[in-house]
Amino acid sequence: MAQAILLVGGFGTRLMPLTRNVPKPMLPVAGLPVTEHQLVTARRAGITSLVLATSYLSDVFIPYFGDGSRWGMHLQYAVEEEPLGTGGAIRNAAQLLTRDESIVIVNGDVLSSHDLTRQIQMHESLDADVTMHLTHVADARAYGCVPIDKDGRVAAFLEKMENPVANTINAGCYVFNSRVIDRIPAGKVVSIEREVFPELVDQGRALYGMVDDSYWIDIGTPAALLQGSIDVVRNTANSAVLDGVALVHRSQDYVAHEGAIIDPGAIITGGSAIGRAAHIGVGAIVDGSIICDGAKVLAGAHIRKSFVAAGTNVSGKLNVHDSYISTEEITSLLPL
Ligand code: GDD
Ligand code: MG
Repeated sequence: MAQAILLVGGFGTRLMPLTRNVPKPMLPVAGLPVTEHQLVTARRAGITSLVLATSYLSDVFIPYFGDGSRWGMHLQYAVEEEPLGTGGAIRNAAQLLTRDESIVIVNGDVLSSHDLTRQIQMHESLDADVTMHLTHVADARAYGCVPIDKDGRVAAFLEKMENPVANTINAGCYVFNSRVIDRIPAGKVVSIEREVFPELVDQGRALYGMVDDSYWIDIGTPAALLQGSIDVVRNTANSAVLDGVALVHRSQDYVAHEGAIIDPGAIITGGSAIGRAAHIGVGAIVDGSIICDGAKVLAGAHIRKSFVAAGTNVSGKLNVHDSYISTEEITSLLPL
């Protein structure tokens, strides 16, 4: 058995305005919060004890996830009054976990189908300090660039560099030995990427990378969030999160959750996700979009590649693409 920390306290700045009232990890992907996707994935890898390291808009997690028993987990919450950074958050949350087992740490905005069980096994058989999941991307500039040697040992950790020296990047899932967590200063703002990892590499500690190029996405921008949702609906994400969930419709075109009412004269395509108790009227077109719980898309509206916030009534006259739509605003988003 292993234990885990999910880092869910960031501001989600690049997702504004979607994150104005909803923290990034609670945004729906295929109709379920990002964090729920991660709980299901963690549980499948044998993790039964998990801490949510929260800060920004922390209050919304507890009513939804409770004690975690619905997912077969023991869930605890570590709330930072002021965000402590990724390293500070790990140090703070680890106090709630046992020191005798490895600790898996996951960025709260990543959907990944990599083999976490193999990552934990690799870590334990090497008795490593940290074993991180690495993946390849075409452009590594927005990520932590992590060159490794022929044995998989991390040669450097270079967060967001202009001229990346490798295209293997930190995919945001680490297995830590608790002896390393104890070295992070307590009660301080610390970045795991900019401070702790470079320091550990300098000290010659045992940091390993496991390259696994399975489905992976960081949903940190509106376009990536929409893409992640489409990938889960169309099953290219290799996700089992919708298995056993109450749905009124499931196809490659769209999923619709419990209580949703879809007029037979509506056209829904492109891997859209329709939330609980949402309504889609006659003649409405919804393509490659996320319609949140309780939203109503009235007869005749056309919504493409867009995000409709929970409870919004979308007028039948609206014809938009690449937009965020809520009761208060319609804002253009960068296209997919
Ligand atoms: N609790 C807590 N407190 N969580 C935080 C804090 C904090 O102060 N700051 C950030 N987080 C959480 C975010 O909510 C997110 O889930 C995760 O830490 C990573 O932060 P991002 O802001 O999403 O970082 P990034 O995407 O720019 O870069 C990170 O992820 C990349 C992979 O997607 C880095 O880890 C990169 O090295 C990595 O390549
Ligand atoms: Mg991110």
